[in-house]
Amino acid sequence: MYNDTFSDSLFHFSYGNLSACKPYRYGKVFKTNIIGTPIIISTDAEVNKVVLQNHGNTFVPAYPKSITELLGENSILSINGPHQKRLHTLVSAFLRSPHLKERITRDIEASVGLTLTSWSQLPLVHVQDEIKKMTFEILVKLLMSISPGEDLDILKLEFEEFIKGLICIPIRFPGTRLYKSLKAKESLIKIVKKVVEERQEATIERTNSPANDAVDVLLRDVNDGGGSDKQSQPLDFVSGKIVEMMIPGEETMPTAMTLAVKFLSDNPVALAKLVEENMEMKMRKSESGKEYNWSDYMSLSFTQNVINETLRMANIINGVWRKALKDVEIKGYLIPKGWCVLASFISVHMDEDIYENPYQFDPWRWDRINGMSNSNICFTPFGGGQRLCPGLELSKLEISIFLHQLVTRYSWTAEKDEIVSFPTVKMKRRLPIRVTPVERTSPISVEDH
Ligand code: HEM
Repeated sequence: MYNDTFSDSLFHFSYGNLSACKPYRYGKVFKTNIIGTPIIISTDAEVNKVVLQNHGNTFVPAYPKSITELLGENSILSINGPHQKRLHTLVSAFLRSPHLKERITRDIEASVGLTLTSWSQLPLVHVQDEIKKMTFEILVKLLMSISPGEDLDILKLEFEEFIKGLICIPIRFPGTRLYKSLKAKESLIKIVKKVVEERQEATIERTNSPANDAVDVLLRDVNDGGGSDKQSQPLDFVSGKIVEMMIPGEETMPTAMTLAVKFLSDNPVALAKLVEENMEMKMRKSESGKEYNWSDYMSLSFTQNVINETLRMANIINGVWRKALKDVEIKGYLIPKGWCVLASFISVHMDEDIYENPYQFDPWRWDRINGMSNSNICFTPFGGGQRLCPGLELSKLEISIFLHQLVTRYSWTAEKDEIVSFPTVKMKRRLPIRVTPVERTSPISVEDH
C-alpha cells in the first residue's frame, strides 16, 4: 500500500511549476493511490504537526463517504472553522473542569468496581466484549447522565446498529447497511432528544449550577444564543451533537483497556512494577481514609508510562485524513489543493529512529522520553492541534482507575490471543482471561514477582 504508484506524467503535471519542492518518491512523505484515489502519506512527525495545527484552516477532515453520509455534513467530526473551534472549546472545557473530574472519578470507580466483581464470578471473560459494556455506560453518563437500565440498553442496541455502517459501501436504499445505520441513527436521536427536552425544562431553573453532563453544556450554549446556525432547531442540534460525540469514545476506550491487559499479560515484570506502584497508593489511601481524586491517579507515574506505551503500540487511531483546500508547502513538500493527506501516527510511533526497539512493550522508555524536546510531536495517539481529542484526560483517568482496581484486587491469566490491526484494532479471540480475587496486603516488589 505504501508504494509510489504514480506515473511520471502525473508527477510532472503536479509539480511542473513548483520545481523547488522536494520530489515525493522516497523519504518520509510520499504519494500513493488507495482504491483509485491519489493521496499523500506523511510519516514525518514535523509534517504531521503542521497538518494537525492547521493554521489558516488549510485542511478539512476527509472521511470515507459512508462516514460522511452517516454523520451528516455538520458533524462535530467534519466541520471546520469557527463553529468547530467553538464546539471544541466548549466540550474540552467541560471535560477538563474540576467539577466533572470529581464527579466522574466516583462514577468510573463505581462502574469499574462492579464490572470487575462480575468478572471474578465468571469462568472466562472476553475482555474486549465485557469492557465495552462498562465504557459505554460511563460515556453515556458523561454525555447525558443516563444510568444503567432499560433506556441505556435500548440506546446501546441502536448505537451498535448505527456504527456498523461507519465503514461500509455507501449505497443508501432499503436493506443496505448504510440505510439500516441511518434508521438506527434516527431512533438514537429520538431517544437522546427526549432526554434533551426534559433537561431543557429543568435547565431554565438552575443555570448557575455547574454543568453535569454534555447535554447541560450544549443546551446552555444554545440558550445563550451561541453559534448562528443552531437557532432554528436547537434541541435537534444538541441531540445530534450528543450522538456524534458518542462515536470517538465508544470504540477507542475499550480497545485501549483491552490492549493494556494484553500487553501486561505478556510482560510480567512491567505488571509487577504496576502492582507495586498501585498497592503503595492503595495503602497510603486506606491509612489516610481519604477518597482518591483525579490527581492521585495521575501521580502514578509508572501507570501513566504503561498507558502511554499501550497507546503508542496499539495505534487505535492510526492516523488522520485531511484534504487540502489550497496548495500548501510543508518542509519542502507540496500538498496540492484538493489532495488528501494521511498524517500517519503509526509510522511515527513505530519509527526505530525515534523509539528504540519500537515493537517491544517498554513502559520504562517514557522515563527517558518525557521532557525531550520533540516528545509531544512524536507521540500523538490523541491527535493534536486544532482537533486534539477533548477526551484525552478523561481517557487516561478511566484507564488508570481500571488498571488500579484490576491489579490491586485481582490476578488473572490470559489465554493465547493476537492483535489484529485491520480494519480496526482488535483482539482475534476477544482476549479470554480468567480473573481471581486476591487479598494483597503489601506492595509486591518487582524482584518478588
Ligand atoms: C483512548 C481513547 C481515545 C483515543 C485514542 C482518541 C483519539 C482521538 C483522536 C486521534 C482524535 C482526533 C481526530 C482528528 O484529528 O480528526 C480525537 C478526536 C475527538 N475525540 Fe477522542 N479519543 C479517545 C477517547 C475519547 C473519548 C472518551 C471521548 C469523549 C468523551 C472523545 C471525544 C473526541 C471528540 C469529540 C473528538 C473530535 C474533536 C474535534 O474534532 O474537535 N475521545 N480522538
